[in-house]
Amino acid sequence: MSKTVHHLKDYQAPAYTVRKTDLHFDIGGTETLVKSRLVIEPERPGEPLVLDGSAELVSFKIDGEAHDYELSGEKLTAHGMPSESFVAEIETRIRPSENKSLMGLYESGGNLFTQCEPEGFRKITFYPDRPDVMSKFTTTIVADKKRYPVLLSNGNKVDGGEFSDGRHWVKWIDPFAKPSYLFALVAGNLAVTKDVFTTRSGKNVAIEFYTTEADKPKVPFAVESLKNAMAWDETRFGLEYDLDMYMVVAVGDFNMGAMENKGLNIFNTKYVLADSRTATDADFEGIESVIGHEYFHNWTGNRVTCRDWFQLSLKEGLTVFRDQEFSGDRASRAVRRIDNVRLLRQHQFPEDAGPTAHPVRPASYEEMNNFYTMTVYEKGAEVVRMYHTLLGEEGFQKGMQLYFKRHDGQAVTCDDFRNAMADANEINLDQFALWYSQAGTPTLDITGRLKAGENAFEINIKQTVPPTPDMVEKQPMMMPVKIGLLNRKGEAVAFRPHHGQAAHAENAEAVTETVLVLTEAEQTFTLYGIAENVVPSLLRGFSAPVHLNYPYSDDDLALLLAHDSDEFARWEAGQTLFRRAVAANLAAIEAGNPLPEHAGLIAAVKQVLNNADLNPAFKALLLQMPSESELWDGADNIHPLHYHQAREALLDAVAAACMNELVPVREWAKEQEAASGIGQPYEYHPELAAVRALLAAVRLLTIRVERHQTIQVGNYEGEKRTDSEAAASARLQYYLNRYEQLTPNMTHEISVLNTVNHLEEEGRNTLLNRFAERYADDALVMDKYFILIGSSRRSDTLAQVQTALQHPKFSLENPNKARSLLGSFSRNVPHFHAENGSGYAFIADKVMEIDRFNPQVAARLVQAFNLCNKLEPHRRALMTAQLQRIQAQEGLSKDVGEIVGKILA
Ligand code: TRP
Ligand code: ZN
Repeated sequence: MSKTVHHLKDYQAPAYTVRKTDLHFDIGGTETLVKSRLVIEPERPGEPLVLDGSAELVSFKIDGEAHDYELSGEKLTAHGMPSESFVAEIETRIRPSENKSLMGLYESGGNLFTQCEPEGFRKITFYPDRPDVMSKFTTTIVADKKRYPVLLSNGNKVDGGEFSDGRHWVKWIDPFAKPSYLFALVAGNLAVTKDVFTTRSGKNVAIEFYTTEADKPKVPFAVESLKNAMAWDETRFGLEYDLDMYMVVAVGDFNMGAMENKGLNIFNTKYVLADSRTATDADFEGIESVIGHEYFHNWTGNRVTCRDWFQLSLKEGLTVFRDQEFSGDRASRAVRRIDNVRLLRQHQFPEDAGPTAHPVRPASYEEMNNFYTMTVYEKGAEVVRMYHTLLGEEGFQKGMQLYFKRHDGQAVTCDDFRNAMADANEINLDQFALWYSQAGTPTLDITGRLKAGENAFEINIKQTVPPTPDMVEKQPMMMPVKIGLLNRKGEAVAFRPHHGQAAHAENAEAVTETVLVLTEAEQTFTLYGIAENVVPSLLRGFSAPVHLNYPYSDDDLALLLAHDSDEFARWEAGQTLFRRAVAANLAAIEAGNPLPEHAGLIAAVKQVLNNADLNPAFKALLLQMPSESELWDGADNIHPLHYHQAREALLDAVAAACMNELVPVREWAKEQEAASGIGQPYEYHPELAAVRALLAAVRLLTIRVERHQTIQVGNYEGEKRTDSEAAASARLQYYLNRYEQLTPNMTHEISVLNTVNHLEEEGRNTLLNRFAERYADDALVMDKYFILIGSSRRSDTLAQVQTALQHPKFSLENPNKARSLLGSFSRNVPHFHAENGSGYAFIADKVMEIDRFNPQVAARLVQAFNLCNKLEPHRRALMTAQLQRIQAQEGLSKDVGEIVGKILA
């Protein structure tokens, strides 16, 4: 297959734009007829008209007359267009029930849904399917009234009626011009949950959530989240909603999380439906953030959209930043921030260091669907956060206001956003543009020294940006490095910062925190007024998405962990201690030596456990060790199982040494929860969630010790017995009892199942089966069951995964199911990386199978092989063979082809 690569540098404005788009959908039993009437404006008359499309074309007319055209490579080309405004009429025929790609118009559960971003609209009709063509849409839908009583599209419902044959019709008008990727249509038998939001200027917005009738009780939390998001955007960003209606439709088959179609969001059920019986605290938090995300897109994405798909981060990075800030303002800001950093390090850093590395604004792509990445979204949000750190909240909001003033109603670029930030604050951000063009995670190598006799502390920073497959030579970037200083007692030390050229540092006001602005490959900053030995607290709040090296002693790190006022820096000190300890274990394992003792780390963990002043959710994070993917980031010749063993051994050692501290924390958490009467009406409450997070984290440690102990039935988490024969059945009996006694709360249920999920004994299977039977009819809970199966460390996991593929509730065609079972297995280090290559072969088989009907999902799964060239030779050979097998597959999609091509390059 010949491949087409699209390049940012080749951008050309459209030769024809569309002023008005009238769509008419005639939904039949198996076929849908789409008639489109476009009022087209020539921008460069004389050029051929080129429309994107892959639907079956029925007819094509220009100004009412049939017109010649050529069809090739999903493009329609027509010559001899009028030089003034003209009308194109296009008819296509599509079969939604046969569409398993979940792009374009497709069927799910008997209802019809669309997904058009980025290039799905062309599967419906022929159109200039690019985001810089913005048009006003009207949509008429005709369908059988019994089968499709609900007919929805963007904007406001303006008309409708019934035909004598049992069919009915509805007409929608969207008053805002939009690109085709924001078009949406839903037709089906759906129940509605209604509410109203009154904007601060007094307008009533009708809120409508569409789900199945049975799911209605699980909608209220999402509705509440939407109203919170609408209010938050008014107070924090001064932005109000602009239509009379806001609709959200939940669908069980969806390729991603949700989609911000104007006035008609379409959501994966995972991000709408929740009650405490079936959703965990993490699920509730996910819903709040995704509901917020899609709502915030109304301004950052829809009112101001992207000129081309290279600019995707213009809307996604900014909107992720906004949803992060929303969640942070709602509750537990520091905990949320650390969660964001963990996500970035676990998934974006490896992407940035691997074969598919690309800048926040990619320079080229084969398949746009492959660029909805952690880099565009999460690193993109870090880039927006850096503007915020550099400019402050006030300066950032001034930039946002100028951005909307200049660009409302336009399709623009990341440079336009940067210019608005710079101009509103009258500063130069030219160098900052490098964040959009250079891939790779920069490293900061920092040293510090007290300048004796000068009462000064000098900080030297060297930055390096690593080469990536797309670019070797890199320029130094502009970035904010937020810092503070602690003395040996752990107290904050005041200092007078000397920033670059700023004169008279002696007269500057003393502060305890400052932002150093890095612009050079190497820079020295001097902080004045320091007479004692200090430990610098660096990159506070994770002020830039970089790796950082500083020659801290273990004592320095323990001091920061115990006393730093910045929670990120405090947590990071603990993470560095963990990383060093795993590295020591790894070295011992690879050298065949006995494992080291880790006395310093264990003392630090005990201090954390004994500290009653810590927020429980923060304490839970402090007990979390970096994942394997974080630990091997930057390494070569990786033996994944050695990393896994090194990490597991450290967890076992910490648990064994800290049982006297862990058990009281566990009991405390249980009591806290039992004693609190809070949590109504949805039983999600940030304070309770924090306690449950700590309980879950502690259980995962205590099980490591208790699995070797014998126990008394009914009182497992506490007492011990010495009869080892009875141990296994007693332990199982304990968990069964525990499981049966659970309050109807999924967070607890999952916590218990996660705790036993790796045990080899048959009792673990009994528990999981019981869970699967109890929730057989709840698709979202069944996803959790399949995740448990796919992520178990039990020796028979691959066999259990293969059996689960045949489970009546499993379907490879449902992305949530495929991701739950196969995605979790592909991240299961001991099984995916099994010595005999069985894990690789299994995932390769499934990639090829899924690719035949849903390339987008297959292309995600195949990225499990991104590690290929960093592996030790045996596994590299095994993985390479599987990649070659995939590449040789006939009819391979360009989605999977692009990824595999980059890995094998
Ligand atoms: N714009 C959506 C979001 O981030 C992303 C999205 C939803 C998407 N569905 C998709 C992207 C399908 C590609 C394909 O909010
Ligand atoms: Zn988004």
